[in-house]
Amino acid sequence: MRVLHVSSEAAPFAQSGGLADVVAGLPAAQAALGIDTAVVVPLYRGVAKRVTDAGHALGASIPLAFAVGPHPIDASLRIVQIGRVRYGFLDAPALFDREGTLYGPGGAAEFPDNHLRFAALGKAATLAGPHLLGAAPDVLHVHDWQGGPAAMYARAGNLPSAVVATIHNLAYRGIFPKTAMTECGIPWEMFTPRLVEFYDQVSFLKGALGLADAVTTVSPSYAHEILTPERGEALEGFLRWDVKRLVGIVNGIDTLFWDPATDSALPAHFTRDRLEGKAICRAELAREAKLPVDDQEPVIGVVSRMTGQKGLDLIAEVAPELAALGARLVVLGAGEATYEDRFRWLARTFDAHISATIGFDVGYSRRIYAGSDFFLMPSRFEPCGLGQLYAMRYGSIPIVHAVGGLRDTVQDPGDEGLAHGRGTGIRFDHATPEALLDAVRRAIALYRDPVAFASLRRAAMARDSSWAASAYEYIQLYRSLHR
Ligand code: ADP
Ligand code: GLC
Repeated sequence: MRVLHVSSEAAPFAQSGGLADVVAGLPAAQAALGIDTAVVVPLYRGVAKRVTDAGHALGASIPLAFAVGPHPIDASLRIVQIGRVRYGFLDAPALFDREGTLYGPGGAAEFPDNHLRFAALGKAATLAGPHLLGAAPDVLHVHDWQGGPAAMYARAGNLPSAVVATIHNLAYRGIFPKTAMTECGIPWEMFTPRLVEFYDQVSFLKGALGLADAVTTVSPSYAHEILTPERGEALEGFLRWDVKRLVGIVNGIDTLFWDPATDSALPAHFTRDRLEGKAICRAELAREAKLPVDDQEPVIGVVSRMTGQKGLDLIAEVAPELAALGARLVVLGAGEATYEDRFRWLARTFDAHISATIGFDVGYSRRIYAGSDFFLMPSRFEPCGLGQLYAMRYGSIPIVHAVGGLRDTVQDPGDEGLAHGRGTGIRFDHATPEALLDAVRRAIALYRDPVAFASLRRAAMARDSSWAASAYEYIQLYRSLHR
């Protein structure tokens, strides 16, 4: 079977969040299970250097001649073999070689031609199969709204592939004025409430979901939550009635690449049976974060995009109480200016208890997972979440709001059970400052009981978060669609 993934991100070359990790880990795991797997992703500015820095050779340019609506696109495909997966980087300088983030000039702003950029990605993906896989794919697997146009062009062009669309985050629906139909050359027949049309605008995500043979999202709980008005982003009715099939498949992590026994970003290494290295990581983290740390008080890590989704306002609200409880907070994140400013201020005001680093730094994130005792993720909603998975693997106990993938991946049987190694973290049910504080109080009590804490940490580190099981589930799904 030949599978082609279409995504706007793939770690470690182009990343803004968890999508990138998934589009690196899942294809690799599928290829390991014997599937012919390829990925199409844009060659943004800086990606070529990251590819060669990682020791890979960027293949010669294969010209791709196509147009998006009335716009001829000057593009080529640069192929890179990484392990068993073939990557096709879409080189279209006018669209992707620019200053800024992946999606905009900086901050939360978006590029005005994002519809064209990801339409071009989609068009290129429908042409890339023969170059990457020797033929059109059996399954075209598109991710998030940026993958949406690939599904639409595949159907419009009668590509013989089954289409799977994965929702990593329904909050981003890829909405544009309906002029995007003509601009992108998407057939107007698709401008219907069952497909692309969304309140007289265009939603690239909705188009893909309506056309897909199966829709997946990244945890079973989120698959239920998005059928409700609270989390359905005004698509709950459409998801209920108009998509052919909706399944939740929980994300995995790349356990080779994320392994505290070998991670080259860490000052010392450890396993669940030999934890001396973790103590060194903790002390070094304190130095790096410039926080006075002692053994009596737990270190709580936060690594997060700074957006409303992540519940960072809840942390900010209880920061004085956290400091009063003695907890040390090490925060790394970037995103909306209001959150960045608020955490900078908190770190200045509570400089003995809170450290905040604003930026995107994968090495430092790994040292936070390794050096912290707990990892806080109070997300208001969380389709899956990877932070809690990395934290568990690195022996940092997750404290999470029980929603979406956080509910599905963190087991909390109560303090008694946790003390006996029958759970992997602490959950709280309501996204309120009080509930968050209660959860932190439970964490501190567990931390002060070294025997209980050790068995909890062992259980968390023993959780199998590898991709194997989920990659297999996707393949079973593909097989059921195979035409
Ligand atoms: P989301 O995709 O919604 O941001 P996830 O938990 O699925 O949430 O994935 C976030 C990923 O991005 C994790 O791998 C996390 O370590 C990483 N990450 C988030 N913010 C930063 C940052 N500021 N620096 C480094 N890595 C980050
Ligand atoms: C999205 C979600 C996150 C998920 C990630 C990868 O960014 O917010 O919960 O883990 O995609 O699927």
